[in-house]
Amino acid sequence: MKPLSLTVVVVLLALGYAQVNVLEPECDSPEAEEAALAAQDYLNAQHSHGYKYALNRIEDIKILTNTEGDNTYVVELDLLETDCHVLDPTPVANCTVRPKVLTAVEGDCDVALKRVGGKLTVKAFKCKTEESTEDLCLGCPSLLPLNHTTALDFVRASLATFNNFTANTTYALLEVGRMSTQIVSGGPQYFAEYVVAEANCTKDVCAPLTEGVITHGICSAKGVTAAHTVNCKTFSVRVPRLQDANSTAVPSWSPAFHAHSRKHGLRHHKLTSYHDPHVLGLLSVSSESNEVVPVVVLNGTAAPVASTLAADTSSASVEVPLAVVKRDVPASADTTVPNVVATEPVLLIPRCPGRVRFF
Ligand SMILES: *[C@@H]1O[C@H](CO)[C@@H](O)[C@H](O)[C@H]1NC(C)=O
Ligand SMILES: *[C@@H]1O[C@H](CO)[C@@H](O)[C@H](O)[C@H]1NC(C)=O
Ligand SMILES: *[C@@H]1O[C@H](CO)[C@@H](O)[C@H](O)[C@H]1NC(C)=O
Ligand SMILES: *[C@@H]1O[C@H](CO)[C@@H](O)[C@H](O)[C@H]1NC(C)=O
Ligand SMILES: *[C@@H]1O[C@H](CO)[C@@H](O)[C@H](O)[C@H]1NC(C)=O
Ligand SMILES: *[C@@H]1O[C@H](CO)[C@@H](O)[C@H](O)[C@H]1NC(C)=O
Ligand SMILES: *[C@@H]1O[C@H](CO)[C@@H](O)[C@H](O)[C@H]1NC(C)=O
Repeated sequence: MKPLSLTVVVVLLALGYAQVNVLEPECDSPEAEEAALAAQDYLNAQHSHGYKYALNRIEDIKILTNTEGDNTYVVELDLLETDCHVLDPTPVANCTVRPKVLTAVEGDCDVALKRVGGKLTVKAFKCKTEESTEDLCLGCPSLLPLNHTTALDFVRASLATFNNFTANTTYALLEVGRMSTQIVSGGPQYFAEYVVAEANCTKDVCAPLTEGVITHGICSAKGVTAAHTVNCKTFSVRVPRLQDANSTAVPSWSPAFHAHSRKHGLRHHKLTSYHDPHVLGLLSVSSESNEVVPVVVLNGTAAPVASTLAADTSSASVEVPLAVVKRDVPASADTTVPNVVATEPVLLIPRCPGRVRFF
């Protein structure tokens, strides 16, 4: 991939930043880390399907200060998918990042934050999620599309096995998180991770309960339809009642929500891709992208809904205005940024990107 040339588009007046002072702290400075961790936690709270993401590297940070002394932090982050489902109460710091050989999924996010009451608070973000194709080996398990028929049969068979061992409770499938296959002697073996919820069964039909304190399970299964092992870790989730009957919002626990991912041939869940409720316009989306995620306010907390699975937009033509430097991360560590004030080329420890936490 050819590295993008650096673009610094100055659209400052339009945003009321009559005179913007741009600070460029080091990517491993405490203020960069503070912003990155606030962004990580916010992004994890935003998506109601798939897995939690952990910060891998701070790619860039800028602090814009307008004439009123108002600071806006703009950070570019590299995140990695962990094995903790978003419903899993385990804190992200205790979750395991998925290794490359099991197909890592990377989130590349631009996030704008402001300090509100002493705390950095996310005001807008833009994310792109991709399967990492590095270090894949022959004979390693490979991800299957989440609508893969045989693998879904395997999921149902393993759930039936689990239900056969749960005394009085029947669980229904809520979401398939990952499915993969590995060719071993004797044919393909399947691996699946999925989420189940306590169900209300009438005759042959079991529907997940949709309200109240509901037992959920995070399951992993291995084998083939006829012979497999399955393990589910169960925990309780309080699921609030959907308040506004007029709302077009589909709650994350509704099967309709996840049907969405099954229609697509995607192999992994994605981070919510764009969110700018305050119309800051700090992080532009390319024109062909219509990925804006509608936001419903459920009792004061914003929750993203549906349609977060739009296709990736190529970064090649993404325009990023307002002194945000967007680049395709080059392999080299040369990150000297063309400043508005020209400086003499000197060899320095690069201020960005920061340290790599995982790989
Ligand atoms: C997370 O890790 C910390 C430190 O290793 C540990 O003290 C804590 O109990 C863990 N929490 C969970 C929920 O696993
Ligand atoms: C359910 O469990 C019983 C015994 O625990 C076993 O005999 C039976 O074959 C199981 N059924 C299925 C569908 O796994
Ligand atoms: C299952 O139901 C039976 C009868 O309703 C009850 O006696 C038993 O305690 C229940 N078992 C569990 C694990 O809830
Ligand atoms: C279970 O489903 C039946 C039929 O759809 C419904 O009447 C009943 O209220 C449901 N029970 C619970 C606990 O959701
Ligand atoms: C719901 O829809 C009805 C009819 O379309 C409308 O009269 C009502 O105001 C709506 N309620 C809300 C809370 O939007
Ligand atoms: C899975 O989704 C892809 C893309 O939408 C579609 O082309 C394919 O037919 C689907 N496969 C199944 C088995 O539904
Ligand atoms: C919504 O918030 C209000 C005030 O914070 C509270 O009284 C109410 O019970 C909440 N409703 C739900 C469904 O949580």
